[in-house]
Amino acid sequence: MSGLVVWFTGLSGAGKSTLATALEARLKASGQQVELLDGDAVREHLSKGLGFSREDRDSNIRRIGFVANLLAKHGVTVLVSAISPYRDTRSEVLAQASRKLEVFVDAPLETVKERDVKGLYAKALRGEIPHFTGVSDPYEPPLSPDVHLRTDLLSIEECVERLLETLDEREVAA
Ligand code: ADX
Repeated sequence: MSGLVVWFTGLSGAGKSTLATALEARLKASGQQVELLDGDAVREHLSKGLGFSREDRDSNIRRIGFVANLLAKHGVTVLVSAISPYRDTRSEVLAQASRKLEVFVDAPLETVKERDVKGLYAKALRGEIPHFTGVSDPYEPPLSPDVHLRTDLLSIEECVERLLETLDEREVAA
């Protein structure tokens, strides 16, 4: 059976990588083969040189989707953490996966600006980073995600439990 692709989308700082990493640890502990494709790491390697225009973001997402599907074909559970701001591109890439979950990691813009883990929102608001998602570039939220997690309202543990429950349901259904 092909592996599940779990695609985390959301604003920078919403908690995608935190949740994907926590879920990865839980799945590995239960003996599953898991791989995490994280936007930041992918941009260091597979997508080095790509910027943040729509075209470049779409290329980044298509590359991630391609690798995710290759891994999934071998039964690996693939966790993807990338802003992936464009609905159409997410749909296109997810349509190629035979088993998938779209996870909307959601926190209000005010919250992610306050968190500003990487200091990028402050820079973007000063106009120092053009095309910054949520500030000067669009983010199109999923209209019907499989899982919708409000990270300003739920703890990391609660989010991971919700994800594990959904994964269990999908395993039973598969
Ligand atoms: S995506 O849009 O192509 O999916 P991806 O998730 O790979 O983006 O990378 C987003 C990360 O790049 C952010 O978490 C942030 O650290 C960094 N970054 C740098 N410039 C931008 C920008 N203009 N918009 C969004 N993120 C940016």
